[in-house]
Amino acid sequence: MNIEFVLVTGATGFIGAHIIDALLAHGLRVRGATRSLAKGEAMIKARPQYTDQLEFVQIDDFEHPGGLVDAVKDVDGIIHTASPFTYNTTNNEKELIIPAINGVKAVFEAASTTNPKIRRIVLTSSFASVMTVNRKAPPYFTYTAADWNPLTYAEAADKATTPVVAYRGSKKFAELAAWEYIRAKKPSFDLVSLCPPMTFGPVVHPVDAVEKLNESNAMLWNVASGSSLPVARVPFWIDVRDLAQAHVGALLGEDVGGRRYTPASPERFSYALAAGIIREEFGGLRDRVSREEQGVDESHGLDGETAARELGYSYRSFRETVSDLVKQALEMEKEGS
Ligand SMILES: NC(=O)c1ccc[n+]([C@@H]2O[C@H](COP(=O)([O-])OP(=O)(O)OC[C@H]3O[C@@H](n4cnc5c(N)ncnc54)[C@H](OP(=O)(O)O)[C@@H]3O)[C@@H](O)[C@H]2O)c1
Repeated sequence: MNIEFVLVTGATGFIGAHIIDALLAHGLRVRGATRSLAKGEAMIKARPQYTDQLEFVQIDDFEHPGGLVDAVKDVDGIIHTASPFTYNTTNNEKELIIPAINGVKAVFEAASTTNPKIRRIVLTSSFASVMTVNRKAPPYFTYTAADWNPLTYAEAADKATTPVVAYRGSKKFAELAAWEYIRAKKPSFDLVSLCPPMTFGPVVHPVDAVEKLNESNAMLWNVASGSSLPVARVPFWIDVRDLAQAHVGALLGEDVGGRRYTPASPERFSYALAAGIIREEFGGLRDRVSREEQGVDESHGLDGETAARELGYSYRSFRETVSDLVKQALEMEKEGS
């Protein structure tokens, strides 16, 4: 698909910044949307070779979306990555679910009513909108992009529920809103959604302290810091650089419009595996990292092969991902001390 100028929301976040770098390396022009132009300016400053290709626009918080008409102006494609991803909440529905859904609706509405040049929107959904928490093997089963999380809105928004459950709902109902918009309004653009599991890897967005790492990487950093090991809720993961390539493939692929994908490494992970890699690769951390044992859940699978084949990328190893992130986080820790 011939797309030259792309709006990326969530542009100063962990995944969005990698998507920006992958698009720039492909020679595309990129506009990042952010609530904080200071972070956008830091992104441009860190990429002096791309000052002609990269710009930022300020948008409002998705609790009350605004600024999107300016954001979608003149672009011919959108990658909508922005969505709240934090488990540190006081009101799950207000902080997670509503902004996730509002964000999708506002981006799609601005695109379809003000810019007929837009040909495709790629949505960063999540494996959270695919998985069924109570589905247990045996027998062995493999999740695919045809699966949907059965969680209801009422369950996700229940005041007594956890932020983890509410986040799963936020991703499911935001993705459903996107597909429903396409079905009901038949805009001039098509949609590709990507449903990745836990995403790890080095950061290229502005992070000024190791304590401020994004939610998923913070889990790995906790392991490197010697915390007791968390239990992986799912054994599936992807490297952020591979996921960025998946987004580029989803944006530019000729025959992928209307498709939903589950990009995921064929390797399973556990935090004990991460701990073992950290001990082997970083001698100085050998005594600090937990030696707790954890099995790796091989009882079921997730189809990441279809995404890699059709979107044109391959998967890094868990060793490379963990090593690259921990190496970078150790440098950040040293600079901060
Ligand atoms: N990390 C993972 O393991 C993982 C796995 C599967 C899917 N995902 C999905 O990938 C996307 C990016 O996640 P990430 O890990 O890169 O998280 P992140 O670093 O926290 O980035 C999230 C971005 O979304 C924007 N955002 C958050 N809440 C918002 C709100 N209320 N209104 C407007 N913008 C808001 C932020 O933009 P500004 O602060 O710049 O305004 C931020 O840049 C999310 O959709 C997430 O659900 C993540």
